[in-house]
Amino acid sequence: MSVTVRVPAKVNVQLAVGAARPDGYHDLANVFLAVGLYDEVTATPAEELRITCEGPDAGQVPLDRTNLAARAALALAERYGREPAVHLHIAKDIPVAGGMAGGSADGAAALVACDALWGIGASREELLEICAELGSDVPFSLVGGAALGTGRGERLTPLEVGGAFHWVFAMAGRGLSTPAVFREFDRLAEGRDIPEPTASDDVLRALAKGDPDALAAAVTNDLQPAALSLFPELAETLAAGRAAGALTALVSGSGPTTAFLARDESSAAEVAETLRTSGTCRTVRTAPAPAAGATVV
Ligand code: C5P
Repeated sequence: MSVTVRVPAKVNVQLAVGAARPDGYHDLANVFLAVGLYDEVTATPAEELRITCEGPDAGQVPLDRTNLAARAALALAERYGREPAVHLHIAKDIPVAGGMAGGSADGAAALVACDALWGIGASREELLEICAELGSDVPFSLVGGAALGTGRGERLTPLEVGGAFHWVFAMAGRGLSTPAVFREFDRLAEGRDIPEPTASDDVLRALAKGDPDALAAAVTNDLQPAALSLFPELAETLAAGRAAGALTALVSGSGPTTAFLARDESSAAEVAETLRTSGTCRTVRTAPAPAAGATVV
């Protein structure tokens, strides 16, 4: 017997970052939107905890207990007095170290899969609590759709989405470390007054209306200057996508994946085709939003 869970990637349509806190984290106003690029995690009974991974980026995925899927299984087993005797197989389609919460997605998926495999039936609240311990973006991977994340991003308020948004994602030739991007944010912010992060009414209204032009005009990412400072070539990818007709271009989360919002599906296909031949990125994918959160398939 085994359980497979499908889980989406995310893009941040607003990422407002406050000053570094004493604990090293940053308060955020983080508007998450789940997009239709998915990993699948399959949990099967085994002698002991084991992780395997397949997919184009599988070689970059850690297969030890630092993997968030392994940490999720261990946290659930510990909390409910089970043996973490499970084989977790990750079919990976979300870019690794890309700023699309691929690792967080696998953590949320493993949690839901082990909960079902072990017949625990933990409540949504209990699962969300474990997610928040695993990482700031993990609760959103569980719920999907769209949500405002406050605190370090883990406290979620669901948001209404009035229509489909068509995205194009350009994957870069190398990854960026999220802590390194936040450190660069701190360095660039030195000596400046950083305001409290607050959600943008324009972003929330555009999402609620399902209006791509309004969303394109409203998106912001406070981590983008830091990501560009560490990875200057991303500016060329952003420019190539804009020139190809994207309504807007931005770095996804801490990067280095770049995200392009298109007016509709056919425009997204055109932007993707132009980016593919631009020589400014490694691979290009299109994906609609919103997408459902972690779901047993
Ligand atoms: O929560 P998570 O483990 O995913 O965070 C990874 C790293 O990203 C943290 O160690 C921290 O450096 C940075 N981070 C932050 N502020 C947040 C979320 C993450 O500084 N709100």
